[in-house]
Amino acid sequence: MTQRPGVAVWRGALAAFVLAGATGLGFRLAAFWGWGGLDPENIRHAHSHLMFFSWATPALMALMQRHLPPSRPMRWATAASLGLGFVAYGPFLRYGYGVAEVGTLRLPLSVIASTANIVAWYGFAYGYARATRGLVRTEALRLWDAAVGILVVATLGAWALGGLQAQGVASPLALAAALHLFLNLFAEGWLVLALLGVFYAQTPSAASGGASWATAWVAWALPFTFLLGVPVALVPPWLRSVSGVAGLAVSAGLLAHTAALWRGGSARGPLVYLACRSVMLVGVALAPVARWGEAAGLRIVFLHMLLLGWISTGLVAAARSAWGEAAVPGHRAFALGVALQVASLFTITGLWPDRWAGRWAWAAVAATAALPVGAAAWMAVRSIAAKASEPEG
Ligand code: HEM
Repeated sequence: MTQRPGVAVWRGALAAFVLAGATGLGFRLAAFWGWGGLDPENIRHAHSHLMFFSWATPALMALMQRHLPPSRPMRWATAASLGLGFVAYGPFLRYGYGVAEVGTLRLPLSVIASTANIVAWYGFAYGYARATRGLVRTEALRLWDAAVGILVVATLGAWALGGLQAQGVASPLALAAALHLFLNLFAEGWLVLALLGVFYAQTPSAASGGASWATAWVAWALPFTFLLGVPVALVPPWLRSVSGVAGLAVSAGLLAHTAALWRGGSARGPLVYLACRSVMLVGVALAPVARWGEAAGLRIVFLHMLLLGWISTGLVAAARSAWGEAAVPGHRAFALGVALQVASLFTITGLWPDRWAGRWAWAAVAATAALPVGAAAWMAVRSIAAKASEPEG
């Protein structure tokens, strides 16, 4: 009989968070102690890809499958995504997107592993479509339909980027648009909507909270928002306006879901980040505010408010509800560490007063980065030692 992936995937994903988070911490420390022969760009790629491929994606896939009929393609795709993220990590760290020298061969190893990962996601989408055919569309399923569909659309950006680079196209707008078609739709579409679906699946009463209009609203508007990630100066004003209107619609829809889940009794800590991030999206949707945000260097805060705040604390809360307390020992320390890390990121932006800025601010960002990494390491080790409460599946 086909089983569902269980807490073992969760532990693997936690290990990925620890390695990827330690890589981010290394990036911060390198500002003091040097890069050790590595290219900062490659460290950043190794960090972000491992977080996407092996932390957030397999954890979400495993959590979704607890509420879906068992499916072999989904189960395999989850394991493949987890494993292939680790395979891609070393090549990204050493070579970035460039070619690796293996004996006499020159191979783009990170690109090969990432492409295999995309194929695994297609396997998940196929398994999901088959397993959910004919099921009544609850709020969770409607959000997952949108999330999985947007995941597939996001991969078009990855193919387009590869195609443009292979053709030697140098247009900054085309390259940035392809990159953000992938990055934005993957993060804001797949990760955000899949986690919202998990929250609804775990708190079905929240579906009566009056946000049912918001899913279709967000799903249709989201694909038009990817240009909001591209620097304002590169995008023709009329296109930026279309993306801006879509961004406002997404923000309204996400705030409606936040309110419904809040009233329904879902974990509130992660929802605070989602609310803050949705309000920030209103600013990004308006070109003059977005230009100001770019000048103030808010991009990293904006990204981590979503990915570390909403997604990562949300995954921990959802794992606690799915697999019990034994799967998330130290979850409060993790939540505190994330809050301090996200807050400290403001000290290295233009919003922070000059007279309080300087080396100590960077030191604070580095020090607070160690907190969620340490808490996740504790969670992984203790969870493995305790063998978690619930049997596989
Ligand atoms: C312990 C937690 C984390 C730490 C210490 C951390 C640290 C960092 C650092 C230092 C950077 C580069 C900043 C710069 O360019 O100035 C970065 C970028 C980034 N991080 Fe994180 N991060 C964490 C969590 C996450 C999570 C959970 C995700 C995704 C699920 C994530 C995704 C990204 C992305 C997409 C970028 C931008 C990559 C790029 O521009 O190419 N991070 N992070």
